[in-house]
Amino acid sequence: MSEKVSRELILVIDDEETIRDGCRQVLEKSGHAVITTGNGLDGIRIAREKHPDLVFVDLKMPGMSGLEIIDVLLEDIPYVVLVVITGYASIVSAVESMKRGAYDYLPKPFTPDQLRAVTKRGLEHRNLRIEAKMLRDAKEQVEKDFITFVSHEMRSPLVTIQQYMEALKIVAGGCLSGEAVDIIERCDKRIRNLEDLVEHWLDISRIDNGTLIREKGLLDLPGIITRGMEDMKPLCEKREITLEKDVPEDLPMIIGDGESLVRVFVNIIGNATKYTSAGGRIFVRAEYDNHYVSVSVCDTGRGIPGDNLPFIFEPFYRVKGEVEDQRGSGLGLAFCKRIMEAHGGRIDVSSEEGKGTTFVLRFPR
Ligand SMILES: Nc1ncnc2c1ncn2[C@@H]1O[C@H](COP(=O)(O)OP(=O)(O)OP(=O)(O)O)[C@@H](O)[C@H]1O
Ligand SMILES: [Mg+2]
Repeated sequence: MSEKVSRELILVIDDEETIRDGCRQVLEKSGHAVITTGNGLDGIRIAREKHPDLVFVDLKMPGMSGLEIIDVLLEDIPYVVLVVITGYASIVSAVESMKRGAYDYLPKPFTPDQLRAVTKRGLEHRNLRIEAKMLRDAKEQVEKDFITFVSHEMRSPLVTIQQYMEALKIVAGGCLSGEAVDIIERCDKRIRNLEDLVEHWLDISRIDNGTLIREKGLLDLPGIITRGMEDMKPLCEKREITLEKDVPEDLPMIIGDGESLVRVFVNIIGNATKYTSAGGRIFVRAEYDNHYVSVSVCDTGRGIPGDNLPFIFEPFYRVKGEVEDQRGSGLGLAFCKRIMEAHGGRIDVSSEEGKGTTFVLRFPR
């Protein structure tokens, strides 16, 4: 019968020979490879050369302090786990070494069981850290691949199709029947919807991988609100919806990315416009206290049923109405939520079906 033996390498740096020998015996019995040394500088040299998985370091040794060894090893050896051996009941030095990055400590004298337990925990901790890093890398790669895929395989052909349609209109010009022109217009509109969806989608991925918001600066929120409102004004007029605001002149500055915040306001006010019928009203109000600056966008539209509310910030989620009168991808609010989070802020919603909806954007001051 063969037992699975793990060969993690453990280095023991301690000037007491009995400790070194004791550790070696116990750890080798558990199946680990063990190197020991009584000298700090030697320990560092061996660690740099062999890259141990776990190192036990005596805090009190002649020549070089354990804390110094900890600093060097953590800097030089990737994923190494350090356990400090404390020779005297000094909780203070143990705490200090853990602050610097040691994983745990083992007070002398210790039993073989204690040694085995801390070794097992330490090695598990190391494996988890490595796994987490691998998952993070893989996720980052998937996100990058996704952005490249969507922009090359979807956006580019869409743009080309649209250009061909334009060309078709010019080439065929007057020869097309009214019906044919109508069909082309419909294709055109659908393609534009698809383009919007792809853009939204790309933006969300760019927020997630940190490439959408690169630089933040001091922002004048009233200016941003005004830009968002200006953008939606023509649509409001067309739909006979009143758009008003109450924004104090002395609203404190916030830190953020102006362009993405304008788009947040365009999205929120755009929704209010889309889901409010003629004669309705949209009101934008800004307020602040010692800690936050808040902007609420309140409409008198159709509202959102309570059982849908928890989901509306999810990508692609749309409330199914009796009649599907408004087009959309369901990505607008997902975008807004992520942008707000990237600003350390939040977005909340309250709504009453048939009465109206209020979105509140809250920024830290
Ligand atoms: N002010 C509002 N009043 C009523 N319903 C709303 C309002 N804002 C959002 N909703 C509901 O929440 C859903 C999600 O909104 P979201 O902005 O994410 O997507 P969308 O408007 O459908 O599409 P788009 O991606 O074009 O913005 C909408 O489909 C709508 O049902
Ligand atoms: Mg929307």
